Amino acid sequence: MATLAQQAPEIVVDFLPLNGTDHVEFYVGNARQAAYFYRTAFGMKLVAYAGPETGRRDRASYVLQQGKVRFVLTTALRADSDIARHVAKHGDGVRAIALWVDDAASAWRETTARGATSVQEPTTLSDDNGSVVISSIAAYGDTLHTFVERKNYTGTFFPGYRAMPEDTVARPVGLLHIDHIVGNVGWNAMNEWVDFYSKVMGFQLYQHFDDNDISTEYSALMSKVMANSTGYVKFPINEPAEGRRKSQIEEYLDFYDGPGVQHLALATHDILATVSSLQQQGVNFLTVPHSYYTELQERVGKIDEPLDELERLGILVDRDNEGYMLQIFTQPVEDRPTLFYEIIQRKGSRSFGKGNFKALFEAIEREQDARGNL
Ligand code: FE2
Repeated sequence: MATLAQQAPEIVVDFLPLNGTDHVEFYVGNARQAAYFYRTAFGMKLVAYAGPETGRRDRASYVLQQGKVRFVLTTALRADSDIARHVAKHGDGVRAIALWVDDAASAWRETTARGATSVQEPTTLSDDNGSVVISSIAAYGDTLHTFVERKNYTGTFFPGYRAMPEDTVARPVGLLHIDHIVGNVGWNAMNEWVDFYSKVMGFQLYQHFDDNDISTEYSALMSKVMANSTGYVKFPINEPAEGRRKSQIEEYLDFYDGPGVQHLALATHDILATVSSLQQQGVNFLTVPHSYYTELQERVGKIDEPLDELERLGILVDRDNEGYMLQIFTQPVEDRPTLFYEIIQRKGSRSFGKGNFKALFEAIEREQDARGNL
């Protein structure tokens, strides 16, 4: 119709343009030893350090990198510290999901104007290599989103950090980038946080799963995936749902003492090689019963990877109408049953493993049934 053709196209301006995830900062009890774990088990390279030797009196931070995955492990040097209190309450866990932006002051202004709680006003850090601007807002629980503007910086990480020599301890496993970061929030709080990502950060609902998708007779959870306009940044938000037994989300909330990051999904181009290396280097994964694989071909159709290899490593497969994806979950990487990792390889699919939740949980329950324990 003519009237439609004459209308100007609607131009949607993204008020929070994100280039991707800059880094994830963890508060841990002993950063030196945690760094050794991530270097030897996950193969991340130690690239920068800041601590007493670089003039920081209250904390030490180790910056680790593999592909575009960058972690900062920070520990307190004294008891009277927000870092120490965070660790006492939550155990080792994610403090900040830092997002890479071109303008950290604008990111802070746009989000706080839409209701975000400011944690740090835009602050410029400088050294001989230039400057970085950072700002922060509060997210779920004690988790933050930090905005990092580094276009005027040529140093290794941040001003004040010392670049480290080539890491000969690290054994890289082919990790490429962060695919998604999942938050667990409390009972009935999922939609509140979906609204936060939508209104405050301009994200959109990407996918959602209800307890019909992710439930068995015994446990359930609800999940909505929020993504920014480019799709580079994806944050699924889980809340517990009623089941006959305590759900994995409730267990997390109990032991983390509140909402927080449940898992980080790390992407690879070759999940068979990546998971083989991780297993050899001591990373423990969830195991899958044989019955999962006897039904796999029928469920997902033809795939490139040999089924026996997938079964040997315990890798799961899911398909949607765009392709398929392979995924596997580690056990929690600390003594509290809280944070864990997912390794993911996408072959066209944008799925988060919806088909696997049910198949995996049901497969496990069939095994229980066979043992007379269901
Ligand atoms: Fe995931």
